[in-house]
Amino acid sequence: MRTIDRFAREVRWLMNVGPDKGPQAHVTSIEINEDFVNSARANVGVAGLSDRVSFLHGPSSEVLATLEGQYDMVFLDHWKDLYKPDLQLMEERGLVGPGTIVVADNVGELFNPDEYLGYVRACGLYDSEHRSARIEYTNHADAVEISVHR
Ligand SMILES: C[S@@+](CC[C@H](N)C(=O)[O-])C[C@H]1O[C@@H](n2cnc3c(N)ncnc32)[C@H](O)[C@@H]1O
Repeated sequence: MRTIDRFAREVRWLMNVGPDKGPQAHVTSIEINEDFVNSARANVGVAGLSDRVSFLHGPSSEVLATLEGQYDMVFLDHWKDLYKPDLQLMEERGLVGPGTIVVADNVGELFNPDEYLGYVRACGLYDSEHRSARIEYTNHADAVEISVHR
């Protein structure tokens, strides 16, 4: 990130969010597979960002039940049939609230997203927007749903 910021200052302007508007973010990551937790922790350590990321090991429903406080942004990218119950659990616990942005990956038709999309669009808590995309590294159609908590 430092290299990107230096490039944008010294070589060519870039339209990324930049260091002033995007400082001090802390990421909380939930992962069920311990090997993946260890790999991710090692990668983030090499990037020098260990103090910016918490790695929580366990099934999302169990870990979410231990968290407190409202998050600015939630990124859903685990088992697709867990998006809806996990989001509802976050609502119950106040982890999402006014202003929280919920981004759900893989909500293209291929992933049978109707239950999640039906909920997030009709429950009355969110303003929700569908963005077409491609499944990573392929040409297959996919989408993300971006839902802003009212
Ligand atoms: C698609 S990958 C995430 C990729 C990641 N967002 C990225 O861009 O590198 C999904 C991950 O969710 C984890 N996962 C699946 N079900 C889970 C659950 N119930 N609780 C926690 N993690 C889960 C899997 O082990 C896998 O590592």
